[in-house]
Amino acid sequence: MSNTDQVYPPSAEFAAQANATAEMYQRAKDDPNEFWAEQARQLSWDTPFSTVLDWSDAPFAKWFADGKLNVAVNCVDRHVDAGKGDRVAIHWIGEPGDTRDITYSQLKDEVSKAANYFTAIGLQTGDRVAIYMPMVPEAIITMLACARLGLTHSVVFAGFSSAALRARVDDAAAKVVVTTDGQYRRGEPAPLKAAVDEALGTGDDAAPSIEKVIVVRRTNHDPDLPWVDGRDVWWEDTVEESSPVHEPEAFDAEHPLFLLYTSGTTGSPKGIVHSSGGYLTQANYTFHNVFDHKEGRDVFWCTADIGWVTGHTYIVYGPLSAGATEIVYEGTPNSPDEHRHFNIIEKYGVTTYYTAPTLIRTFMKWGREIPGAHDLTSLRLLGTVGEPINPEAWRWYYDVIGGNRCPIVDTWWQTETGGHMLAPLPGVTTCTPGSAMGPLPGISAKIVDDNGNELPTGEQGYLVLDQPWPGMLRGIWGDPQRFKDTYWSRFAEQGWYFAGDGARYDENGALWVLGRVDDVMNVSGHRISTAEVESALVAHPAVAEAAVIGAADETTGQGIVAFVILMEHATPGDELIAEMRNQVAVDISPIAKPREINIVPELPKTRSGKIMRRLLKDVAEGRELGDTSTLVDPSVFEAIRSQRG
Ligand code: PRX
Repeated sequence: MSNTDQVYPPSAEFAAQANATAEMYQRAKDDPNEFWAEQARQLSWDTPFSTVLDWSDAPFAKWFADGKLNVAVNCVDRHVDAGKGDRVAIHWIGEPGDTRDITYSQLKDEVSKAANYFTAIGLQTGDRVAIYMPMVPEAIITMLACARLGLTHSVVFAGFSSAALRARVDDAAAKVVVTTDGQYRRGEPAPLKAAVDEALGTGDDAAPSIEKVIVVRRTNHDPDLPWVDGRDVWWEDTVEESSPVHEPEAFDAEHPLFLLYTSGTTGSPKGIVHSSGGYLTQANYTFHNVFDHKEGRDVFWCTADIGWVTGHTYIVYGPLSAGATEIVYEGTPNSPDEHRHFNIIEKYGVTTYYTAPTLIRTFMKWGREIPGAHDLTSLRLLGTVGEPINPEAWRWYYDVIGGNRCPIVDTWWQTETGGHMLAPLPGVTTCTPGSAMGPLPGISAKIVDDNGNELPTGEQGYLVLDQPWPGMLRGIWGDPQRFKDTYWSRFAEQGWYFAGDGARYDENGALWVLGRVDDVMNVSGHRISTAEVESALVAHPAVAEAAVIGAADETTGQGIVAFVILMEHATPGDELIAEMRNQVAVDISPIAKPREINIVPELPKTRSGKIMRRLLKDVAEGRELGDTSTLVDPSVFEAIRSQRG
């Protein structure tokens, strides 16, 4: 067997102590409803549910519909009530090196204060609250305070632009934005509230739904921070002054816990709606089994930002519902230097480390001496998420970070799925590097062709989820038709959810996710649509037309490559390219800036006028062109190639 065929069975030692067992697969298959009911019973319910799944109004699912619970109580109070109030919930580490340890008791007080203040300003169950914050404890406290009151939160990644924030505030008609004065960027304070002010506007242009902006003092960088009287309040003068005693109510399992906007194949981001009971069940179940969580012993670290679904499920709701102790780190991995993550692992005795393949590839570039300078023996389980991991990076992770000792869980899931869907079970599954292995117990997936026929081993097809699951999205905010069209129309006849990814099974039955088959790009695990970037580019006055593709990139998975046609009057040059890249940063986020912009005289189109992105991808990735027979004018490529040099 060559090195590349090597598989990794669990050690006997790990298997003997693992939470998950092989029999779970069969048990879940035999009676899925009973299996999920059993998982849901790990939570505390104020009113126990008597029904599990109601799929009669498919694709609008209801799980545990007649049960009532409070999500924040499940994440905080119940651990305090069980005598674990002194356990650290969050070891928080600020980028400049300041730290805070927050116990479950303290978290309960903080969440209660925020809940009392939110009630005092008139927020009511069902209202939406936007959260635009760096990774500070108050962001998590705000999310939990919303959950406690049945307010639906909408976290907007603090790296998004003010235009992106405004679109999300308006779409959700949020009444409040919680933010910070500034955020640290590699040791330097950078303004953040300024972006909120710009987003919310004034006078005729003011965001109509907004009543309050609550500001956490983080950087204290600006003695003249602009302030809108009546609208803006400091967290320290309001939330901090509120009572730490708050009596929670219970809400229906189907009550919308949060919205999270994500990119689709068309221009405007969609607000994915998640439920309370079903979502929390899946978060808790996967956290326990996929991360093999040992309460009171493990120190868990998910390196994602709360602006993405990974941060929602595996920084907030999964770990806290399980009573975990976790790391929350505010900054970047190379601030102040490339040792940062390894210092944290060493200092806090991190046992479980969950990150993105792009970061692993970055660590590889920095060199093994950096992790090699640290004692990483506290680690016992590693995880990856966000994009396919190449086998070479997998093996490096296993060897250099995991000391050839730690199982790796490659977890495939989406904003829409709420929690892990495909992943190995540590202690059970023999892993093939690069493969997410297969559906978890209780989850069902197929790989099919255009007509929904299952494909034989080795053939690439569409990944579909053919059975509902508790953490599934309940819709797109305000747009039930778009929900049906986007996810359920491709295989409407069969009633399957179309994930948008391509996949295949290998000869050992391992499932390989091959990336998106639609016009969604994946850059460093961030989901960005080609249409969004194109519309930002054409918003520049010099641009007549733009086509954007995701080209393979060694570090970031994919890199954004744009091809633009200029207006007659425009003057090409570096300055213009910089302006166009900036336009994308302003309209969306700096993370969406194209890696490369090519000014071209023409774009390859079919007779019906559709841009042939596949061919542009061939060009960007330096391949020979595929089939060009449906092109109107194949000679455009000569022109494109000569422009690229
Ligand atoms: O293409 C898949 C890829 O990320 C997409 C979902 O992106 P998002 O909603 O932003 O959620 C990311 C974090 C859950 C998927 O459609 N993806 C995610 N995890 C993996 C993956 N591709 C391959 N392997 C994975 N483990």
